Amino acid sequence: MTQTSPRLRKAVLPVAGLGTRVLPGTKTTPKELLNVVDRPILSYIVEEARAAGIEHIVFVTGRFKQAIEDYFDHQVELEAQLEAKGKTEILDQLLAELPKPGEMSFVRQMAPKGLGHAVWCARDVVGDEPFAVILPDVIVDAEPGALKQLVAVFNETGGNVIGVERVAESETHKYGIVDPEGDSSGRRIAMKGMVEKPAQGTAPSNLSISGRYILQPRLFDLLADQGKGAGGEIQLTDAMARLMTEQDFTAVEYEGVTHDCGDKIGLLRANVALALKRPDLGEAARKAVSDLL
Ligand code: G1P
Repeated sequence: MTQTSPRLRKAVLPVAGLGTRVLPGTKTTPKELLNVVDRPILSYIVEEARAAGIEHIVFVTGRFKQAIEDYFDHQVELEAQLEAKGKTEILDQLLAELPKPGEMSFVRQMAPKGLGHAVWCARDVVGDEPFAVILPDVIVDAEPGALKQLVAVFNETGGNVIGVERVAESETHKYGIVDPEGDSSGRRIAMKGMVEKPAQGTAPSNLSISGRYILQPRLFDLLADQGKGAGGEIQLTDAMARLMTEQDFTAVEYEGVTHDCGDKIGLLRANVALALKRPDLGEAARKAVSDLL
């Protein structure tokens, strides 16, 4: 199978979701901007993308998500205040997060038609080159970061690379699940198929597609006519399954701890876990948690 694999430069971040699992906090604040310890979920995700060498981020947004665009722009009054008060440490942190002009694009997904449709909305901005997709619900606490671990494999294999995580049998119906080919005990797994949200008891494995992907642009052609799948939505997994008949796919079980921040308890767990790891807050966080227990 032949496929071009130029350097990976762009990442697509689908951020149009309504965040219904963490309402009412997400009624006026995009879920991606909810804080984990002291910065938004998206701040961790963009950091992961940059650490993997990503130079341009394409956000697929929706109505009521303007705050995301504002987060990655100057807040002139705030910056002036911090400067005047000599609060240079936090000011430097804010400025370091800003993109250079032109490094971020925002496209609208005008209706909630599914993840596959969201990714397809980014096609013109991505163009004819490989691209990453990062689902910003999930913070992966890993060193090197999860996407960087996928990039290392992509640089060897080319083609398409997707991140997977082993989940309990009882949880497989919530995810895209990989159908492995041969031995699947290692961290790099050959695949022969994948299925989105298989019915209980029908999953081909317990390897869940966990929200980190490196994909070839040919996928956009397939997404253009992709029919509705699980949940009546246009599924990224279904288009990837079609692409597998033309191009190579490798599944990578990356090392790291996953936090599903789109879920109440997952968000709580992320806050506690990442606060405990912080050199400046860890001791106080440990005391607070043990007092509560
Ligand atoms: C999406 C994908 C699914 C993947 C999951 C990871 O599902 O469609 O393949 O396993 O993200 O979180 P969603 O959680 O949006 O239903």
